[in-house]
Amino acid sequence: MFETLQAASADAILGLIAEHRNDPRAEKIDLGVGVYRTEAGQTPVLGVVKQAERILLDTQDSKAYIGTAGAADFNAAMQALTFGDAALDDRMITIQTPGGSGSLRVAAGMILRASPGASVWASEPTWANHAPLLGGAGLTLKPYPYYDTENHAIKIDEMLATLATAPAGDVVLLHACCHNPSGLDPSRDDWEAITDVIVERDLVPFIDMAYQGFAENLDDDAFLVRHMAGRVAEMIVSTSCSKNFGLYRDRVGTLSFLARDTASRDVINSQVNNLVRTIYSVPPDHGAAVVSLILNDDELRAAWIVELDEMRERVRDMKRLLNEALIEQLPDHDFSHLARATGMFCFLGITAEQVARLKKDYGIYMVDSSRINVAGITPDNVSYLAASIAATLQAA
Ligand code: LMR
Repeated sequence: MFETLQAASADAILGLIAEHRNDPRAEKIDLGVGVYRTEAGQTPVLGVVKQAERILLDTQDSKAYIGTAGAADFNAAMQALTFGDAALDDRMITIQTPGGSGSLRVAAGMILRASPGASVWASEPTWANHAPLLGGAGLTLKPYPYYDTENHAIKIDEMLATLATAPAGDVVLLHACCHNPSGLDPSRDDWEAITDVIVERDLVPFIDMAYQGFAENLDDDAFLVRHMAGRVAEMIVSTSCSKNFGLYRDRVGTLSFLARDTASRDVINSQVNNLVRTIYSVPPDHGAAVVSLILNDDELRAAWIVELDEMRERVRDMKRLLNEALIEQLPDHDFSHLARATGMFCFLGITAEQVARLKKDYGIYMVDSSRINVAGITPDNVSYLAASIAATLQAA
């Protein structure tokens, strides 16, 4: 049976982990997969996570199944973190999912159950796994203009014009903050204009919020979610605790639905739990139990926010540092968009061939699109990085 299969190509992002690991050069730099790193190049377990894990070890008294929706205390705390005062109890449900990807996959299944003919409009470009994941589940994806590669700006007018052509009932996938891969987010005015089109056209927003806390702070980063919750009839929101709690491998996320009314919410609730049972049955518990402990305890929560702020500030500093180092190396080249980007990612703005040369000649790894994970930069490697980029661009 399996002899009919051909080898699949390596994942555009995850494939870089092994490539970088196997590179023997001491000066190599990993700017590939989106994980946070310290100045020492480590992806640490947050101190507050360790603290919560110790509490869990002492107090958890069962590993019995918890149910398709996950833990109610986690879901309530995450719904509050996501929606703040915009949470609408009588029209909303939130379930625990295996990470943001698990959330997206369940959302895809629900869209297919509810409206198999609906297309999902996604930014051009979008996270490299959005199309494989949502398309692989059976959805049709269509692009809306987003990133202007030449001017490093958002094509807001073209985006709005394209969305204005989408048929009622289609779904619009939006990145709440820290757009992956570009790092450029619409302004609040832009988000309001996008919401206007979505409301006018009766489209369904599907917001992917994988980086809450990595742009400005927990509340400002949720602006889009909260603004839309007050204006649209229906909405889907996926969140991830991979980055802001550093719980990547523990797979912690949520999926929320805003329904037209309470009756519809109850139907969605039954359908989504039924769907989860057919995919992974129940979500993993450990990471979500840790998050729940942190969010439901004032001291732990405050300690978490301090660690989250540190991660955000380090990433911001590294973008500034790289921009400065590049100005020195390449004064005629404009890299100012690096300093404007939010979150872990931005485009370097170089060709795929130059990306390949940086890998081959200098051991510098990034996604082919020239998306870099800024968390891979340190004060110690930034000069080497900037000099390598300059040498590569000058050799062209
Ligand atoms: C990324 O974009 O690098 C991260 O979201 C990790 C992933 O799964 O691709």
